[in-house]
Amino acid sequence: MADEHRYPDEQREAVYRVIAERRDVRQGFRPDPVPADVLRRVLAAAHQAPSVGLSQPWDFIVITDRARREQVAALARRHRDEFAAGLPGARARAFDQLKIESILDTPVNIAVTCDRTRGGRHTLGRHVQPQTADFSSVLAVANLWLAARAEGLGAGWVSFFDERELATALGLPGHLGVIAYLCLGYVTGFAPEPELATAGWARRRPVSWAVHAEEFGRRGLPGEEPVDPLADVIAGIDAAALPDEAAMAAARERQDRMTKPRGSLGVLEEVSVRLAGLAGTCPAPLPEPACVAIFAADHGVHAQGVSPWPQEVTAQMVANFLAGGAVVNAFAAQAGAEVTVVDVGVAAALDPVPGLLPRKIAPGTADFTAGPAMTRDQATAALIAGAEVARDLVAAGNRCLVTGDMGIANTTASAALICVFTGADPAEATGRGTGIDAATYARKVDVVCRGLARHRPDPADPVGVLAAFGGFEHAALAGFILGAAALRVPVILDGIIAGAAALAAAALAPDVTAACFAGHRSVEPGHALALHQLGLTPLVDLGLRLGEGTGALLALPLIQSAARALRDVATFDSAGVAEKQ
Ligand SMILES: Cc1cc2nc3c(=O)[nH]c(=O)nc-3n(C[C@H](O)[C@H](O)[C@H](O)COP(=O)(O)O)c2cc1C
Repeated sequence: MADEHRYPDEQREAVYRVIAERRDVRQGFRPDPVPADVLRRVLAAAHQAPSVGLSQPWDFIVITDRARREQVAALARRHRDEFAAGLPGARARAFDQLKIESILDTPVNIAVTCDRTRGGRHTLGRHVQPQTADFSSVLAVANLWLAARAEGLGAGWVSFFDERELATALGLPGHLGVIAYLCLGYVTGFAPEPELATAGWARRRPVSWAVHAEEFGRRGLPGEEPVDPLADVIAGIDAAALPDEAAMAAARERQDRMTKPRGSLGVLEEVSVRLAGLAGTCPAPLPEPACVAIFAADHGVHAQGVSPWPQEVTAQMVANFLAGGAVVNAFAAQAGAEVTVVDVGVAAALDPVPGLLPRKIAPGTADFTAGPAMTRDQATAALIAGAEVARDLVAAGNRCLVTGDMGIANTTASAALICVFTGADPAEATGRGTGIDAATYARKVDVVCRGLARHRPDPADPVGVLAAFGGFEHAALAGFILGAAALRVPVILDGIIAGAAALAAAALAPDVTAACFAGHRSVEPGHALALHQLGLTPLVDLGLRLGEGTGALLALPLIQSAARALRDVATFDSAGVAEKQ
């Protein structure tokens, strides 16, 4: 019998229960001491953890002394302040509300260490992966955490430390690393959900996103049909039934009762109504924190001489975004938004740095005048990559997504896409991009004409259209926009590249436009055509033609103000203000 060793139901349930109900606890600690026998049981559970080569690299320092805890708390406070100083506006405000340690609120602290040398050079399994020593100590922490929950003891893990600094403060011998610093005590209660989820800082990912059948990317739980991620996102938009008419009606009604003349907020009233329709509640949650995702890629059509800029500028600007030196960084800092760069197809290899998501489909597309820019599989992979970036950024706590792009020659690809989806003539849809002379402009229009003649694209087949002309950033942005809509999170569109991508997204799922807000109108003529077809009103019209996400970021405070007004402004009845006769 396959299950002859299975625990009886009640015991099995208890195991799953302790796993589900273990929490990282930071608040509600009681001062009662923890009896020594309870601590001994919890430590014995920790000590039974699996370890590489049975090396048991852990030790547990049990700390109750107040002066020592104060010293450790001071270290954590310093790192907390440093972390807070680096956060964009809305994130910093949210972080300010979070409790990240309870070093002094708990009667016992336990430092879990790792001796990475224990057992000598022949420790089985550690020879190729020295980090397995640390993993082993982490497993001891997991055991301790679960046993503590079963004992009714709250435990909180604090990692706001420099490891060597903490080791020194604890007086540890130099060969020991510190793996975890835990705060333990009895509590007033255990929260049903992670505190960071309740606080809106981050969300849980569903288990179906995390399980892959045979190959990474083939998502699906055992025994269930594999998930087609793109179809899944589109189905998510359909299931959301966007926009929610009742929420929109409630928002309109509230706008009319707010202490201001009816309609006096102009376009912003409609923005607030659309936000409510997207969220399905009135008022909608504030669209913050916000994150701009700059999708970067190179284009084979650059070889046709459609841009005066060398292709290397794509990679160079990516480096500039990551170093914080571009206009998008300045605007993001001003608006309090985070900047993330996604490499979906930059021709050069990029070094890993914080803030860069490596999602390269290929090092640049092919020249669409000579053949398809990419394969259908690549277009699909880029769409999925974009949708997953949206999902991950929302899981990380963002409530507003902003599109950004970088890719020398990407206005040419955008013009072609816009021609296909709007039926416009290449001469109407093609613009001067970064600034080109008459001869280059004529060549650019001719390139778009030749591409259209060659591929005879079918606008009813958006994946095929993206494959024919798109940049990887267009396909990924289309996925990003779809991903935002499926999660009912607003996405602010930047200029022509986002406009072209949004047309592809709308061809895949027409209701996606309910999540889209046109940040601005660029001077690229194709952009106005795209916005018209999408039925979106640009919020800002400042003659911008930079890309990167700059125009969308300028609109971010407008959209946030619209949401805040609907949420915060008093109504005539609540404020006791007389209405117009
Ligand atoms: C390696 C590690 C380090 C952590 N560091 C901190 C920390 O410094 N401060 C904090 O408040 N929580 C910290 N946590 C707790 C996580 O935020 C928490 O586990 C997560 O939000 C999930 O919540 P749950 O443990 O209640 O399920 C840490 C967790 C782990 C696994």
